[in-house]
This record gives sequence, structure tokens and C-alpha cells, in this order.
Amino acid sequence: MADTYDLIVLGGGTGGYSTALRAAQLGMHVALVEKDKVGGTCLHWGCIPTKAFLQAAEVAEHAQKSDEFGVRATFEAVEMAAVLEYKKGIVDANHKGLQMTLKARGVETIAGTGHLSDHATVTVRTDEGERTLRANRGVVLATGSVPRQLPIEGAETDGERVIDSDHALYLDYVPNRPVIIGAGAIGVEFASVWNAFGSEQVTLIEALDGVVPNEDVDTQKELGKQLKRRGMTAHTGAKVNAVEKGQDGVRVTFEGAKGEETVEGDVLMVAIGRRPITEGLGYEEAGVRLDRGFVQIDEYARTGPEGLYAVGDILPPYTLGLAHSSFQEGFLVAEQAAELPVVPIDYAGVPRVTYSHPEVGSVGYNEQELTERGVAFEKTTYPFSHNGRAMMMKESGHVKVLAVKDGGRVLGVHIVGPKATDLIAEGQLIYNWEALPTEVGQFIHPHPTLSEAVGEAHLAIAGKALHG
Ligand code: NAI
Repeated sequence: MADTYDLIVLGGGTGGYSTALRAAQLGMHVALVEKDKVGGTCLHWGCIPTKAFLQAAEVAEHAQKSDEFGVRATFEAVEMAAVLEYKKGIVDANHKGLQMTLKARGVETIAGTGHLSDHATVTVRTDEGERTLRANRGVVLATGSVPRQLPIEGAETDGERVIDSDHALYLDYVPNRPVIIGAGAIGVEFASVWNAFGSEQVTLIEALDGVVPNEDVDTQKELGKQLKRRGMTAHTGAKVNAVEKGQDGVRVTFEGAKGEETVEGDVLMVAIGRRPITEGLGYEEAGVRLDRGFVQIDEYARTGPEGLYAVGDILPPYTLGLAHSSFQEGFLVAEQAAELPVVPIDYAGVPRVTYSHPEVGSVGYNEQELTERGVAFEKTTYPFSHNGRAMMMKESGHVKVLAVKDGGRVLGVHIVGPKATDLIAEGQLIYNWEALPTEVGQFIHPHPTLSEAVGEAHLAIAGKALHG
């Protein structure tokens, strides 16, 4: 006998649980199937624990640099056991809160491994046996992703010498000479953490021509410069040829700008992206179209036969693989299932955030993309060195704004610098409301704040720069 629900969600990460919560709020009877813990990668292996590390890293940096502010403090050491405990406390509290919210909203969380039997039926293997669930209004695939492995002999992750971000979150020591392959979000975030925690040498190896290569070219340059200033080394445009594991370390050989080079480290972290979990779950058999493992969707997150939807990291890379884009996808799906009017997501309007030091936040298009598309644009770059608050913090970077030539709408806001991940929230409104630089120039930014740099950048592009 099948148990019947309005909506069945397969996977309890951010994409899955946001769908379930919104659907329940709209009065639907919802089952959320999860084989591990609700909260998924973001809560247990990604956003939340890594940002707890970054918070600890910021405290360590403050202690190390306190004398620059006239404060006498001594930095002794980072105690990883205590940092892990602090991180665990944050994750556990969030996990508990999420479980309570799901329960309070009436979502039925089913612990077990789900399998799509047909477009409206999910079979779940639980500790008590098998259950068959049937959906009236839809099934939502939200099974997430895992770190990609480097397809090179010797580079298989073992959790000790060669690790991925999952392992890095449980290391009980600070690696002295970590080598990181991939300078995307995960690479530069862990590089920043370990550098602040006291690693002697952090090395990044990136295949493309800059760190955070998906970002605006000036962000790449500025972040690269600042990582170097903090003592890190980033080899870009580098092709990894070999990885050798020894008793005490690893040796990575790559082809870079200076020909073949070798770096040695005590640990190698592979951070070359994540791959979707879509195999062996009955997806293709039920009519879901996969491309290199990613679920193909239309602009309403629909896939395969009527009533099947997909959200989160199993979607192709253009959907960004970010927790907050998956929240939005969850809303889009739940509201459709409730037959509410919905609008497709403009992925360019989803803010991207990287918690390196300095942070990166961006929204809209970058200069390379606009050039490629042949858009006539103008740009301005406002440095944080002109901003009083950033000066007090001894931080630098810039706000870059791109707009349609001759006074047209803002097409991109790119921030690299202090609190960029918070500041980009304003950029998001500017981009998504299709604001003109002159309109933003009229908004009043409180003084003295970092947000003034956003205002000043728009004043500058509108030809009314106050400072600088
Ligand atoms: P990513 O796609 O952001 O970066 C991977 C990097 O590795 C790319 O720059 C790529 O060019 C490089 N790469 C790939 N193969 C390589 C090779 N063989 N040798 C050298 N470099 C190579 O993926 P990442 O950093 O692993 O993150 C995974 C996912 O998690 C992404 O979707 C990311 O956006 C998300 N994430 C988001 C965060 C945030 O929003 N703050 C933080 C961490 C992860």
C-alpha cells in the first residue's frame, strides 16, 4: 500500500527543505526523504561549518595584528580541537532548529534512502523496511552533490594526505604546508583559513588564468594580489600532471607559466568542483534527462514527465550550485505545485559570495561576459582606500560597477574587499530592480560605513564622484 502525499521531496538539503517548508506553508501534505541529516551539504559540510572556521580565522587575524590598532594582545595558537567544538556547536544548533521548524510546519521527514520508481512514486528503504510513497502534485529531486575527484593516479582522496573539503572540516591540526588544487570558492576560502590559522605556506594551483576565475577580471587580479600579500602562492594557468603521495607529504607536479614545476606539502586538498548525485536513483528510467550527470530542467525547474521537478546542486552549473539559489528554486517549485503564478529565476541576479580574505561578492554580469556578448557598457572602479571605514579596518579592495553605456541600467556590481558578502545585498537590489546609476547616486549611504563605497561607485559612473 502506498502512502499518499501532495508533494514528495527527495533529499533534505537547502533545495529540498526549502521546497518542503514552502509547500507545507501553502497547505500541502509533504514528505521529505533524507538518508542522512536534514540540512545537507550547506549545513553540515559547506556554508555553515566553513564560515564558522572563517569566523575563527578572523579572530586569529585580529589577535595577530592587534598592535596595528594600538591594542596589545598576544596570539598564542589556534587550538583545532576547540575550533572544531565551536563549529560543531553552530552546526548542531542550526540542525536542531531546522528539525523543529520542519516538524512545526507539519513536514513528514522520512529517514531512509529514496528511489524514484516512476514520475510520481518514490520507494524508500528505511530501517524498518521499504515504504512506497505516492505524490498527487509532484516529486521534487533534490539529491545534491559530492566533491569531484581529480582524475589523476595518486590524487584519490584518502582523508589524510589527499583530502577534500569534507575532510578539511574535520582535520584536528593546522596543516603547515597545504597545497590546494582549484582556486574557486572552496580553494580560496580554505587558503584564507589556513593562512590565518598559521600555516607556514599555502599554495594554490588553478587551471584557469586567475583565482576565482568565474569572477570579474579585476576581482581576480585584486584577490590574487591580496592573497600574495598575505604570503600565499597561487599558480594559475597550471595543469596538474602528477601527484605523488609519500609518508610525510605530497608532491604535485604541474605545467605552469614557468614550465614544469613541483610543489611539496604536508596535505593536498582537491577543490575542483562538485558532481551531482543522480546515478542509480531511477531518474533516467522515470524519464529525467541527464547531461554529464546533471538534471536538465526548463526555466520552471521542471524535468521529465509532468509533475517532476529538480532543485539544488543536481542542476547544471549555470544555476550556480549555491544554497541561496536552491532556496529560490524551492520556492519556485512549491508555488507551482500549489498552482500559484511564478516567474523564472534570473540566475545572473543571484548574488555570488566567496568568504576569502578579502571577501568577494558579485551580482549581474562581469566585464568578460559583457565583452563576449558585445554589449556597449561603461565601468568604474571605486577603491576601498578612499573609504574611511575600510581605512580604519586596514582593509582594501574595490567596488566595480558596470552599466549600459550612456547612463543605462546597472549590469553588474563586483566587490572585493571587507564585508563584500554583506555589501553585495545592495548590489542585488540595484541589479534586479534594473536601477540606473543616477538613481543609485541619489540613495543616501550612512557615513562612515563600507556601504558608502557602493554609493560612491555609482556616483562615479553617473559622473558625480564625491571623493576619489
Ligand atoms: P568551483 O567550481 O568554484 O572551483 C573549482 C576550481 O577548480 C575552478 O576554478 C576550476 O577552474 C579549478 N579546476 C578544475 N579542475 C582543475 C584541475 N585539474 N587543476 C586545477 N584547477 C582545476 O568549485 P569548488 O570551489 O570546489 O566549490 C564547489 C561548489 O560549492 C561550487 O558550486 C561553489 O560555488 C560552491 N561553494 C560556494 C561557496 C560560497 O558561496 N561561498 C563556498 C564554497 C563552495
